[in-house]
Amino acid sequence: MDKYGGYTSHPHTADMYDLVPAYVRRTDRDFYVRYCREARGRILELGCGTGRVLIPAARAGAAVTGLDVAESMLSRCRDKLREEPQEVRDRVTLVHGDMTDFDLGGKFKLVIIPFRPFQHLLATDEQLACLRCINRHLDADGKLVFDVFQVDLNMVCDPHAAEEVEDVSEYEIPDGRRLRRSGRVAAFHRAEQYNDVELIYYVTSADGTTERIVHAFPLRYFFRYEIEHLLARCGFKIIELFGDFDKSPLTDGSPEMIFVAGN
Ligand SMILES: C[S@@+](CC[C@H](N)C(=O)[O-])C[C@H]1O[C@@H](n2cnc3c(N)ncnc32)[C@H](O)[C@@H]1O
Repeated sequence: MDKYGGYTSHPHTADMYDLVPAYVRRTDRDFYVRYCREARGRILELGCGTGRVLIPAARAGAAVTGLDVAESMLSRCRDKLREEPQEVRDRVTLVHGDMTDFDLGGKFKLVIIPFRPFQHLLATDEQLACLRCINRHLDADGKLVFDVFQVDLNMVCDPHAAEEVEDVSEYEIPDGRRLRRSGRVAAFHRAEQYNDVELIYYVTSADGTTERIVHAFPLRYFFRYEIEHLLARCGFKIIELFGDFDKSPLTDGSPEMIFVAGN
């Protein structure tokens, strides 16, 4: 089974990641950057990927360490950082590592895990290991902020989910090729609370040939009180819980579950 959300076994996803308009438009970036700006101390982003949140946070003045297990995602982040002014680059440290087992030799005011890296941790032991590592790295008055999606119960048993649904309409990418993407759920594993997800990229070259690239990975889902229990087992107290990045409360229809926790 693909570990790490398939980002290490499908390195080409790093080239596609910043080309997905829905990721570029996500409202989580401003939400997390605001926390980074207010933190007044060192910040750690786990699963920082290509720097979608990390780079705007550094631009806003935050000193950020980004940790990711996928060298391809970090490499893309390094390329993007080369375009930034020296003072922004100086505020960033990138670390190749696993969020379930890291020792950075210091403490942080804020730890963030934007856009669901926590859902790539399938087993309870991995989730606990991650939260315990975070706890060891958090200042006494520090905060952990992370999001997981709120489960739509129709989505974990939809008989049509195996059919591909387009989520990016075809458009021209900077190198002149054309890109479209669709997604599907290849299998449900309700007893173990994860789905086998496929993100399918179609890249068409000028000569008309189309390459089909499949990013396949298992995605864990959580219910509210499971996360609350996990946090409690690792010594965290929940400070706030939101249902979306506008800080609205969690309700039945909320798309997200965003936890702000302290120790
Ligand atoms: C959906 S991307 C999110 C990237 C970034 N946080 C953002 O908001 O754009 C998930 C990231 O989590 C990373 N990841 C998955 N499992 C990980 C692990 N065990 N340790 C560190 N990073 C991990 C992947 O390599 C990938 O870059």
